[in-house]
Amino acid sequence: MKIIVHIDAAAQWQAALAKALPQATVLTSEAPASERANADYLAVWKAPAHLLQEQTQLKGIINLGAGVDYLLKTPGLPRDVPIVKLRDAGMSELMADYVLYGVQHFYRSMDRYAKQQPNAQWQPQEVVEKSQWPVGVLGLGAIGSHVASALQQAGFPVLGWSRSPKQISGVRCFHGDDALPELLGQVQSLVTILPDTAATKHMLNAERLAQLPQGASVINPGRGSLIDEQALLESLGSGGQPGHLRGALLDVFHEEPLPANNPLWQHPKVMITPHVAAPTPLNEAIDQVISYLHAFEAGETLATVNPEAGY
Ligand code: GLV
Repeated sequence: MKIIVHIDAAAQWQAALAKALPQATVLTSEAPASERANADYLAVWKAPAHLLQEQTQLKGIINLGAGVDYLLKTPGLPRDVPIVKLRDAGMSELMADYVLYGVQHFYRSMDRYAKQQPNAQWQPQEVVEKSQWPVGVLGLGAIGSHVASALQQAGFPVLGWSRSPKQISGVRCFHGDDALPELLGQVQSLVTILPDTAATKHMLNAERLAQLPQGASVINPGRGSLIDEQALLESLGSGGQPGHLRGALLDVFHEEPLPANNPLWQHPKVMITPHVAAPTPLNEAIDQVISYLHAFEAGETLATVNPEAGY
């Protein structure tokens, strides 16, 4: 069995896979082209197109992340090779940590204290009860449902939304486009954890952002494409207009790295992190990769990615 790995710090992944699968040949994408030929599996995150195009007898592709948008858009992706992606693999917990931080940032007025400090302003802000701070979570897949539960366990009322019906203990679940306005109208913080697909592009447009209550905040650790950036800037206030949103914590963008001249960088209500909410943790992911490889080899039926749906 020949496996080629492509991800940041690929040598660590290569070593961990080689240790777990002593019979296999595990290479990184840096290996010479002649050695890379005729691989059985690719385990990749943001692989260059040539790596996908040069292979002729792949049995499977393992996406070393939760979102498959980049992989599905890579030119030359073979159409007949099954794709599996990491599901949770430690990312849910990281994502929940990030989102809990983001909600607390606004709930406990850290955004306001950050503005007060340069002026030596000692001005306590009101702490409302958590019951008065409903949080919306758009996207209830493996990661979104964990995040929704974590918020609920932290004491916030949680309203979850997904395309198809879901049930999560302690979370008020909504589904379908028609239900979105009802959810949006009630939340103090809105978290977006949907995949990047044709159906989710600019899900938060000007109309939907306007449905959020005055003073609501947006936390996007999902994908940049979920939010119409111009509409977000307007809702936050631009060109001297105050805007009706309180602020945004953004981890993902239409273009990454976010270009230096993008107005989000300078916006006083925006906090930016460089796509770090849930980096794939090696140890937990390796176990999942290995079980995928065993399942592929054993001819078992796997929950594969549906390229049409985009996840
Ligand atoms: C990160 O963005 C991922 O999709 O895993």
